[in-house]
Amino acid sequence: MTTNAKKGRIFSGMRPSGRLHLGNHIGALQNWVNLQQEYECIYCAVDIHALTDSASKDATSQIKPNIYEMVLDWLAAGVDPEKSIIFVQSHVREVVILHGILSMFTPMGWLMRVPTFKEKLRQLDATEHTVSYGLVGYPVLMTADIILYKADTVPVGEDQLPHLELAREIVRRFNHLFGPTFPEPKAKLTTYPLVVGLDGQSKMSKSLDNHIELAASPDDTTKKVMKAVTDPNRKFLSDPGRPEVCNVFALHKYFNPDKVDQIHQQCTSASIGCVQDKQLLAKGINDKLNDLRERRQELASKKGLVEEILMDGAAKAQTIARETLGQVMERIGLA
Ligand code: AMP
Ligand code: TRP
Repeated sequence: MTTNAKKGRIFSGMRPSGRLHLGNHIGALQNWVNLQQEYECIYCAVDIHALTDSASKDATSQIKPNIYEMVLDWLAAGVDPEKSIIFVQSHVREVVILHGILSMFTPMGWLMRVPTFKEKLRQLDATEHTVSYGLVGYPVLMTADIILYKADTVPVGEDQLPHLELAREIVRRFNHLFGPTFPEPKAKLTTYPLVVGLDGQSKMSKSLDNHIELAASPDDTTKKVMKAVTDPNRKFLSDPGRPEVCNVFALHKYFNPDKVDQIHQQCTSASIGCVQDKQLLAKGINDKLNDLRERRQELASKKGLVEEILMDGAAKAQTIARETLGQVMERIGLA
């Protein structure tokens, strides 16, 4: 990786919850792949963050297999270990120390205000008293991830924007207290930063089971698409549809870009029904992802490949991490 010609340094992470879905790909992963040309890129499987969702031995034992499945998706999509550093968060333990240090300078009020925290409390049916300490500090660990590598650009989906807002606040505070040390990280969104799930209600996500896996079989993909909710007002074939409220149409924009105007016209004039429309989408998804899916199978047959990539990545990441942590210790007077 040559630093000079590059625009800056990218860091991003994903929680290893298994195989990725279309939302992860369209909302973040395609940017991870494209940005490799212009930036120095570091991509991380954030297994410590995954512990916030896994408070049982059964759940924690899934994290390692999930890392493997997720990294295969990254590689199949085109994340290239020759160009980028790919590693597992817990393999570079400096991040835990930096997280601890940053937590001393982060007011609780900032953390309690983060909208994703409030949403998570609702989801878990928890209160500020029962929720884990780690979940409150989730964005502090995320900040530590990013600034340990002095990254300035963070490709993520729209749901992560509040976390990056907080990361910038923490960086500003640290730089103010101890002198300029870290760049303020900014988000980089794709053109589709929020992919709605097949229920048409909320963002596509595995936990809501409204998703299609990136590496699903063509058959599974078609079955799932056929069950997708479309415009709820369109009860009969003769009713004109409203593409702007239809999540199937939103996916056409990505998977059938050359047919999207025609589909819009046919839907609003009721000359195409939702079933035919969904068949077109399923075909668009299967055609577009065919190469990725084949590549994934090929990569999965190479024993030890993922492990080797992650070991190599951790060694490279650690060199940067040690240097940053050394500098932080000096700045705060603990060196
Ligand atoms: P997660 O699986 O929640 O760790 O998300 C990994 C990455 O995918 C993050 O950058 C998210 O912002 C992005 N992402 C997840 N779900 C979606 C979605 N439905 N639409 C757009 N981006 C998403
Ligand atoms: N919070 C992110 C998510 O849920 C994952 C993440 C952890 C991350 N550390 C990060 C993303 C650093 C970007 C940069 O998807």
